[in-house]
Amino acid sequence: MAMIDGKAVAAEIRSELKENIDKLKSISNKIPGLVTIIVGENPASKVYVNMKSKACTEVGMKSKIEELSADISEEELLSIVKSYNNNPEYHGILVQLPLPSHISEDKVIETIAVEKDVDGFHPINTGNLMIGKDSLLPCTPNGVVELLKRYKIETSGKHVVVVGRSNIVGKPVANMLVQKKEGANAIVTICHSASDITQYTKQADILIAAMGRPGFITAEMVKEGVVVIDVGVNRVDDSGAKKGYRIVGDVDYDTVSAKASYITPVPGGVGPMTIAMLLVNTYKAFQKIENIN
Ligand code: GUN
Repeated sequence: MAMIDGKAVAAEIRSELKENIDKLKSISNKIPGLVTIIVGENPASKVYVNMKSKACTEVGMKSKIEELSADISEEELLSIVKSYNNNPEYHGILVQLPLPSHISEDKVIETIAVEKDVDGFHPINTGNLMIGKDSLLPCTPNGVVELLKRYKIETSGKHVVVVGRSNIVGKPVANMLVQKKEGANAIVTICHSASDITQYTKQADILIAAMGRPGFITAEMVKEGVVVIDVGVNRVDDSGAKKGYRIVGDVDYDTVSAKASYITPVPGGVGPMTIAMLLVNTYKAFQKIENIN
């Protein structure tokens, strides 16, 4: 069994980006900028937003966190998003989810300019992904595909089984891998936890677990030699841990790793790739908007 080291790959991607941005700075006075909008006081969201901003700064991009009060009206938030759509210093706009219940997430996402939608959540980007056109790709699924590429894991003609059908991971990763192009071209099955899925998961050459259930995928559910990508991030109580909890994936790592040819750990697998791909998207958005290659 070989472990897929997402932390190391993410560091490699950040260093490639930093090199590109350093070059950019020597030839032009423009740099990519990301604004992250956070509404309210969700502690987990704050941690994520700070990590995203720090990563931006470290590769030499401009970063701003726009902190808004939980009682901001939908109208006001939409008008702030629009102001960033028209602000040339920011090439990426990310509104951290979840939003307070009086605000429509759909409306907010649809208000972000398509070319600045670095989360890849806008219906136009989602649609372009589905029909195989160039688009800003959602960060976590793009991170999964990038890990497979960098580890030279063949996907063409392989059976990829995706467990989970969220708009953020399951559906987009399945769409990305089924495309007729290099680094994809897989035979893809999407399942979810509302049924007994062992008959499907056992057929997987590559299993992508993204349903948000701690340790759901066990050794009996996979075949020998399977490649396992665990997207799960679940908190489980652990009185022995400093914080009183620890983070586990959707895969029962200890038993499944014994049968897998490759497996991502949690933490340190897919997680670090999400932010790396956000930086990649911000850079791509910058290149497209500024017409710089
Ligand atoms: N909340 C949890 N994950 C994400 C993400 O990838 N993007 C945004 N905008 N919010 C999130």
